[in-house]
Amino acid sequence: MSIMSSCSIPSFSSISVSNFTYRRPNRFICSAGVSVAELKAVSATEPLLLNAVRGEDVERPPVWLMRQAGRYMKSYQAICEKHPSFRERSENVDLVVEISLQPWKVFQPDGVILFSDILTPLPGMNIPFDIVKGKGPIIFDPISTAADVDKVREFTPEEWVPYVGEALTILRKEVNNEAAVLGFVGAPFTLASYVVEGGSSKHFSKIKRLAFSQPKVLHALLQKFTTSMAKYIQYQADNGAQAVQIFDSWATELSPADFEEFSLPYLKQIVDTVKRTHPNLPLILYASGSGGLLERLPLTGVDVVSLDWTVDMAEGRKRLGSDIAVQGNVDPGVLFGSKDFITNRIHDTVKKAGKGKHILNLGHGIVVGTPEENVAHFFEVAKGLRY
Ligand code: CP3
Repeated sequence: MSIMSSCSIPSFSSISVSNFTYRRPNRFICSAGVSVAELKAVSATEPLLLNAVRGEDVERPPVWLMRQAGRYMKSYQAICEKHPSFRERSENVDLVVEISLQPWKVFQPDGVILFSDILTPLPGMNIPFDIVKGKGPIIFDPISTAADVDKVREFTPEEWVPYVGEALTILRKEVNNEAAVLGFVGAPFTLASYVVEGGSSKHFSKIKRLAFSQPKVLHALLQKFTTSMAKYIQYQADNGAQAVQIFDSWATELSPADFEEFSLPYLKQIVDTVKRTHPNLPLILYASGSGGLLERLPLTGVDVVSLDWTVDMAEGRKRLGSDIAVQGNVDPGVLFGSKDFITNRIHDTVKKAGKGKHILNLGHGIVVGTPEENVAHFFEVAKGLRY
């Protein structure tokens, strides 16, 4: 029996937003039990985000927002009330899928990022942690000595975070190539800063003490994170992630020379390792406040650099060179402005980024308290753009 012959007829729903209309295919299931999503996975056109990163001709920049799932959404707050533990929300397959899909269902971004945290792998590396409301991440036994580093285990994702693979696989089916499913990991220096500082930090004095008085100990820790995060990216890709973002949020606490010693070589090692097994997987690098390091970021070998808002997009493009794609760089605070103000800032960023190789995004995550209607407006305007 031909599978195709027993499928229901495709239909499209038209969704009108401000100045344009787009057609979104509805999901339909074949009587043979094979979803068209599965059939389409073989022949489907690639998501816009992947085409844009690869420099193909696209009609507009793809758009997604860092922290697009989270506390600014009432639907997320409702889940928090029922499931107050962040670890539970981010480690239970059903909750991870539901939360990841919340912004997808409302805004149809071009990227659907897994709901998780950069710290999620830590227990699997023998580093217990929690995320406490009002306090942020807490590492129960911060690392400070060579003996502490010896106790850190290398990460085996399939053993410790099977829910991540399962959630990514479900997300791929749900999103059905209408957007790219995005995975993410923390970069070695940023993860090390949490586990050495014991949580978030203002002055990064503990990790700097370690870096500048016992560099070998820090290098040993960074190498364990490097091997583990390369494996974790491969695992995410094998289970459905179509692009992976590496967050080196705190790398910019380092001077350029120290970045070259404590972050750059490890990022490059991760990229080299992943590219050997997954040469077509786009890798995106984000570091907040990266203006002073910009020329060094492409040396990691990533495909996309995500800019925060302290760099002018046109200048950032020039400094990064034309080979690499850019993401960003709208100030998350813009989403507290009027709708006209938001529209103008989107147009300004897109114009400065120029045609192609640009993923429209914020320069950091959406801030708690951001009006959901302004986020909706951001997506409407962004998806209505044409080059
Ligand atoms: O973008 C997304 O929608 C995916 C979800 C995501 C989360 N954390 C969920 C989360 C992503 C990509 C992250 C990455 C992350 N986590 C980073 C890198 C990005 C950045 O902000 O620079 C960092 C540094 C962390 C560590 C971390 N986790 C911090 C500093 C906090 C905030 C603490 C707080 O209470 O505000 C978290 C908790 C966290 N991770 C929240 C979310 C939505 C907020 C807590 C909650 O929702 O209960």
